[in-house]
Parts: sequence; structure tokens; C-alpha cells
Amino acid sequence: MSLLEVRDLKVTYPGGAAAVRGVDLTLAAGEKLGVAGESGCGKSTLALALLRLLPPGARVGGEILLDGEDVLTMKWGRVRAVRWAGASIVFQGAMHSLNAVHRVGDQIAEPILLHRRTTAAGARRRAGELLEQVGLPAARASAYPHELSGGQRQRVMIAMALACDPRLIVADEPTTALDVMIQAQILRLIEGLVGEQDVGLIMISHDLAVLADTCDRLAVMYAGRVVEEGPARQVYDDARHPYGRALSEAFPTIGDPASRFAPRGLPGDPPDPAAVPSGCAFHPRCPVALDLCATQDQPLRDAGARRRAACVHVGPDGTVPPDGAGATAGSGPPEGDTAPAGDGAGSPAGRGEPAGTRDTGEGAEPAGGAADGRSGGDGRGAGGVAPAEDDGVRSSAP
Ligand SMILES: Nc1ncnc2c1ncn2[C@@H]1O[C@H](COP(=O)(O)OP(=O)(O)OP(=O)(O)O)[C@@H](O)[C@H]1O
Ligand code: SF4
Ligand SMILES: [Mg+2]
Repeated sequence: MSLLEVRDLKVTYPGGAAAVRGVDLTLAAGEKLGVAGESGCGKSTLALALLRLLPPGARVGGEILLDGEDVLTMKWGRVRAVRWAGASIVFQGAMHSLNAVHRVGDQIAEPILLHRRTTAAGARRRAGELLEQVGLPAARASAYPHELSGGQRQRVMIAMALACDPRLIVADEPTTALDVMIQAQILRLIEGLVGEQDVGLIMISHDLAVLADTCDRLAVMYAGRVVEEGPARQVYDDARHPYGRALSEAFPTIGDPASRFAPRGLPGDPPDPAAVPSGCAFHPRCPVALDLCATQDQPLRDAGARRRAACVHVGPDGTVPPDGAGATAGSGPPEGDTAPAGDGAGSPAGRGEPAGTRDTGEGAEPAGGAADGRSGGDGRGAGGVAPAEDDGVRSSAP
């Protein structure tokens, strides 16, 4: 059984932003999955949904099976137990969300005391071990956050994420705001910890190059959907989907002066999730779009060994779309490579809202449910390792 299986996940925010529109993902224990895509394509929404941290009123549909158990239908008490011990999240800018008035060792020890049967001394000892695990001396446990550098604080956040031995770690832009040297150290650290402890990792970034370097597999998101997925290096070096290609070509190739001086970007902006274009959502920006792309939705389809891509040009043999210049709008799909929109399993076309669509607000844990002592108002922002009790800002749970 997979550690994590996400099936047809859909999230719509109040106001109508369809931020995630039918995502399927699978992650095995010990596997590192990178999720890439431009700003606003739904990466953080996906991460928040995994642990039911979405704001009240967000409508969620589909299934999120963690060790076979659907996170979306769990009772709140169970959700709280799963956060920390089952899965934990390190958010974008997490280092800014440590509580300024508590020593970092106490902050790491707190979830251990709450979620593990141990004494205060045992929790403190474990906090020291975790600090050493992330490359900080155990003695730094007595430091206050302001006494640490940004990189050290981010390490503390990772130690917190590891505190209760989670099976799955979700790292949402864990190195944003860090300089490149520290960024590399933190990435190696996360990579090493995942390898040693056989946990699953979902690493989210807009930086395809970093993900290709760190992860086993890569999923590229566009407008709330996964449009390409496969072995990380292959997706980065030889994307099958025109958007995946544009994303990887936006990064200069080291040692290639041509790409360095003229990095290729993608014109235009991703769509507003409240008004996603019809057909293939990428068609207004796609250099190889056909007439039918404006009307026919494209499901993910096989695009080579353990690869999938959602493009009309991708045939069962993994045909690569031609370069932009070669495309003839209106010429119809290349022979033999069409897959009618909505053609069965995995097709997002015409799915509509599944019967099981839920409004997270409705099922939200009542205010005051943070009976285990952590306060949502402890000065943490939207970032940080996300326990049930840390989500006053972003979650429907207190
Ligand atoms: N609480 C919210 N209410 C309404 N819309 C939201 C909310 N949070 C996010 N969105 C919208 O959902 C879409 C996806 O946002 P999300 O934060 O998941 O993107 P992202 O891929 O993580 O982007 P970035 O790379 O900038 O972090 C965006 O258009 C965003 O404006
Ligand atoms: S389906 Fe059409 S618009 Fe979408 S990526 Fe492929 S060619 Fe471009
Ligand atoms: Mg984000």
C-alpha cells in the first residue's frame, strides 16, 4: 500500500477560486516527490488540503489516503493525532513563525510532550537529539529564536517537523528567503533525513531545478491540475508537456552561455482560478496549441515509462510536442495521438463536483478544540510546522 494516495482532489475557496481541480498523486515511503509550478497554480493549497488545514468555507472533494485512511473523512481528534505523528508540514517562511518568547528547545519539546508518552526531561532530551540531527548543537536548545540565524531557525523548524517521527513530511518552499549556500545545506539535510528514516517527502517549489536535484519524481502543476508527472530528472531534462518544457527552459543551463544570456520565459500569466479557460487551461499561452485545445480538456495519459502528461500531442509512445514554430493552429491533432476529453479514469473533463464534495468549514473542529495546550495566538504566522493548534491563520481548526 502506498504511504499517500491522493485521488481526484478538488479545492474551491469561498469566492469561487478553483485552486485544485482534480489532482491524483501517489507517494511511497522513502520516496521524494517534487511539486512544481508557477505562483498561484495551487501548490500550497494542495499541501494544506493534505492535513485539512484549509480555511473555513473551502470546499474539498476527493480522497487523501494516508496509510489507507482518508484524511478528509477523519474525525478531528484523529486528524490532530495524524498531524505531527502521521504527517507534518514545513511552510514557506516557516522560520519566521517560531515563538519569540520561548526557547527553541521548549518549542521542539512541546509537541513531543503532547503527542508522545514521555516526561518533560525525556522531551527535552529528544529535542536536543533532534537539534543535533539537523546539524545544530544540542546546547542551542536554550537559545531564543532571535539568537539564531535564518538558516538555523529553519533547521529548528525542520527539527519540529521531525519531532513526532512523522511518516510524511510536506515541505512547502522550505528554503525560500535563505541564501543559496544555506538553501543547499537545508535541502541536503531534508534529503538525508528522508533517506535515513524512510519517510515520504513532498517538496513544493517553483524552482524545477532544485526539485530535479532533490527529488525522485516530479509533478508539474498548472491551474490546479498536475499536467506532467514522472522521474524528476527526465521531466526536467525532457518534459513532455509544453508547460513543463517552458518551465524547465526558464532556468539557465549551467555551462551553456546561450541559455544563460537568453533564458527562455513563458509569455502571459497563469489563469485566474475563478475563471479557468475552457479546454486545456494552458491553451492561451501554449506555443503548440491546436484549435481543439480551446474546447477539449486533456486528461493525463501515458507519456513513456512511469510518465504521464496531459497534452493532445502526447501519444502512447510518449510523442514529444514539436517546437512552437512548428505548430499549426487549427490543423487538428496529430494522427493517432488523440484522446477524447473525458475518456474515462483520470480524465478531469466533465467530472463535475463529486458527490463526496465537502465544505471544510462545515466539518471544522469547533473553536477551543486545541485542548492540548498550544495556542493559535502564540505569535506564529501562517508559516511554521503545522500542528492542529498552530493554524489559527490558515486552518479551519483552531
Ligand atoms: N484563502 C484563500 N481564499 C481564496 N483564494 C485563495 C486562498 N488561498 C489561495 N487562494 C488562491 O488559490 C490559488 C492557488 O493558491 P496557492 O497558494 O495554492 O498557490 P501556490 O502555487 O502555492 O503559489 P505560490 O508559488 O505563490 O506559493 C491562487 O490563485 C490564490 O489566489
Ligand atoms: S493540449 Fe493543446 S494547449 Fe494544452 S498543452 Fe497540449 S498543445 Fe498546448
Ligand atoms: Mg505556495
